[in-house]
Amino acid sequence: MPAIERPPDVLRVEPARAIRGRAQIPGDKSITHRAFFLGGLARGMTRVRNPNPGLDCQATLAAMQALGAQVTWLADEVQLTGVAGECQEPAGTLDCGNSGTSLRLLTGILAGGPGIGILTGDRSLCARPMQRVIEPLVKMGAQIWSRQGGHAPLAVRGGHLKGLDYTLPVASAQVKSAILLAGLSARGRTTVREPLPSRDHLERMLVQFGAEVVRAQGPGQSQVATLQGGTRLEATVVDVPGDPSAAAFYLVAGLILPDSEVTIEQVAMNPSRRAMIDTLIAMGGEIEVRGLTEEAPEPVATVVARSSRLAGIAVGGGEIPALIDELPILAVAGAYASGTTVVGDAAELRVKESDRIHAICRLLSECGVRVEERADGFAVHGGTRPAAAQVDAAGDHRMAMAAAILALGAAGPIEIHGAGAIGTSFPDFVAELARVRVER
Ligand code: S3P
Repeated sequence: MPAIERPPDVLRVEPARAIRGRAQIPGDKSITHRAFFLGGLARGMTRVRNPNPGLDCQATLAAMQALGAQVTWLADEVQLTGVAGECQEPAGTLDCGNSGTSLRLLTGILAGGPGIGILTGDRSLCARPMQRVIEPLVKMGAQIWSRQGGHAPLAVRGGHLKGLDYTLPVASAQVKSAILLAGLSARGRTTVREPLPSRDHLERMLVQFGAEVVRAQGPGQSQVATLQGGTRLEATVVDVPGDPSAAAFYLVAGLILPDSEVTIEQVAMNPSRRAMIDTLIAMGGEIEVRGLTEEAPEPVATVVARSSRLAGIAVGGGEIPALIDELPILAVAGAYASGTTVVGDAAELRVKESDRIHAICRLLSECGVRVEERADGFAVHGGTRPAAAQVDAAGDHRMAMAAAILALGAAGPIEIHGAGAIGTSFPDFVAELARVRVER
């Protein structure tokens, strides 16, 4: 695996005059994880082009190697020769680092595998809720042991699984995906019903690998996905589009700084991921989406953002799952907008890589921005220029990147502690920012 250039742990970001030019973003993290999982399970050699190079996806790849997949890294491509549905029992513990997607989806794979697999991660990951995957997988026939309260490390003993019809209590693509991956080796059909649509990359990609997935609209905004068990996956080529969650940082920079224009090519435009662009447009952001291709399995487009006068907005309810990873950078946009930006119905933010509701409020208030913390969200009162400060990213990549963008329009530098976490999803973030910034 290539050693990544981890951003420095203490990152000082000076205010900038503008940002201009083309920003490069990494391949989408969620799609890369899924390509590594399905390529590792399939028969034959899968090519994953433009994979996300961050530590989270590397953890997934290392785990699939431990389950028997053969992996070759080329410059901008990973080739995996899969196990043709027959995983081997991993010899050691599978360390998922900071990656919730790795740990939860692997639980689904180990549930249908031979023998016992042990999953662990860093302190943040071992504090995140896992009962949400344990419960349905045990219903399918796996045995899973966890630390008190349903936390990792987890020990999973795979079994002969039976299909399940399951309604998710909270919309979660990770839980949905863990159940569908277990469903691949289960007897009969597995159906997952979700109250609100979460990202659907796995459903799309399963079809690409030859599985039978039937999708339907349920009552209200709910969605239903049904998978036929016992399907053999066949290797394919996956072209990973750019990560819209990474793009969001540069788009907000382009909107909040004067005299700026930033262009990002090949951004994934999956409807379950593009809500941030629509929200920024609704705030008055001048964002142009060009050359949208609806090509299966994932639509892509070029996105351009130009300096704009933003106004506060309120988001909540069914809008939240499609915006969940962008809420830290939406809070930064809110700090530079007129009026108040309110986020509600987002209690899930408290169990991400950090307690993001608390981390957002601490970041903004340490920089002198007025913000109110609520149980399920926050309210940012915009219009006060953020001040120079020293802040702590709480070991969370998205908090560190949000702080860096906040600094661009601030009155003085912001020193971000714990910025090394950016390496989990976007190792080149700092270098790219340096390339597009125009000095004051
Ligand atoms: C992800 C799903 C989301 C998201 C996370 C990645 C995925 O989490 O926040 O960053 O790749 O499936 P939930 O499944 O908890 O909603």
